Amino acid sequence: MSKIRPFYVMEVLERAFRMQAEGNDVIHLQMGEPDFDTPRTITQAGIRALEQKRTHYVQALGIPALRERIADYYPAPCRPPVERVVVTPGSSAGLQLVFACLLNPGDEVLLADPGYPCNNNFVHLYGGVPRGIPCNPDSNYQLTAKAIAQHWNENTRAVLIGTPSNPTGSVVPPDEMSRIANTVRRLGGRLIVDEIYHGLVYDTDVRTALFDGNDIFVVNSFSKYYGMTGWRLGWLVVPDDYIDDITRLSQNLFISASTPAQYAALHAFDAETTEELEYRRATFQRRRDYFVPALRELGFAVPLMPQGAFYVYADCSRFSTDSDTVALDLLEQALVGVAPGKDFGVYRQHEHIRFSYANAMDKLEQAVARMAGFLSRT
Ligand SMILES: Cc1ncc(COP(=O)(O)O)c(C=O)c1O
Repeated sequence: MSKIRPFYVMEVLERAFRMQAEGNDVIHLQMGEPDFDTPRTITQAGIRALEQKRTHYVQALGIPALRERIADYYPAPCRPPVERVVVTPGSSAGLQLVFACLLNPGDEVLLADPGYPCNNNFVHLYGGVPRGIPCNPDSNYQLTAKAIAQHWNENTRAVLIGTPSNPTGSVVPPDEMSRIANTVRRLGGRLIVDEIYHGLVYDTDVRTALFDGNDIFVVNSFSKYYGMTGWRLGWLVVPDDYIDDITRLSQNLFISASTPAQYAALHAFDAETTEELEYRRATFQRRRDYFVPALRELGFAVPLMPQGAFYVYADCSRFSTDSDTVALDLLEQALVGVAPGKDFGVYRQHEHIRFSYANAMDKLEQAVARMAGFLSRT
């Protein structure tokens, strides 16, 4: 437990809610979830599932119809057999299943720093050692095959890539992902690719890592693109040689993922749902196109235009050498909530904060105006 760190953004959120309860109109740009509600088609299916009394345990790996639908979501050349698709209680559970079955005490996992904070804690939880590798804009804030080979040692067991990344929104290009997969394979480790933000990509194409081999663990979720954070539903595509391990772990750790959520998610891939989700994706893109230049204008450095997710990882060193102070001041004096850099790693954490543009355009404009006022006074 001594190695498990808090998720600091949750503390910011609590403080922001307290301030709101005291009558302050806080603009939330610290959120890690879409501001849109779950699409109606999915919600209605969830209601029907409850009415049809689909409230009991189901198969540990997920209901067959949903596993099939997930398998069909992948393009034909890399479509996995349904046996390799595992439904999980969110990708948080999926990531834990993967680390639980891969790691022995002392095994190292290479991850990008900055990266999604919970991963370090998951690795610790299963006795592993997370090794954050400093990543800069020149490599898209992502690990490269070269960096992986450089940092590999006899204890390295696995590499985790998140693409698009939280907090930077950067994407690993397909040719680099192929090089990474080959390198990890050559070195005798396992590659885990978190594709939870795959639906939310702008001006670029992403390709699932399933194209790069069926020995890769692919993690995904209904949370972000599908707008189902609170339903707690995700999935894994598991290499053949780990299906048995993952099955035993799923049975024991979770019994099964939420039953009504699974019936609801059967409609996540419907044409009507896709139309709504693509409209939302275009909305995120418009917000990004407004917000990133506006932040740069305010004096934040954003070296790379984020290509996906709904985050901007901004260098705030022009204002302070302590990003915690910037985050606190923005909240208390500009009434704008942001996530502090220390949530995403140790490398240059004091120079960065993370903004989320999962908020309405008028709120983003208001936040920019408030920050402009505050920064001109300091
Ligand atoms: C990169 C990444 N992976 C995984 C998760 C976990 O999401 P969930 O458990 O809702 O699928 C998140 C949530 O913010 C995330 O940003």
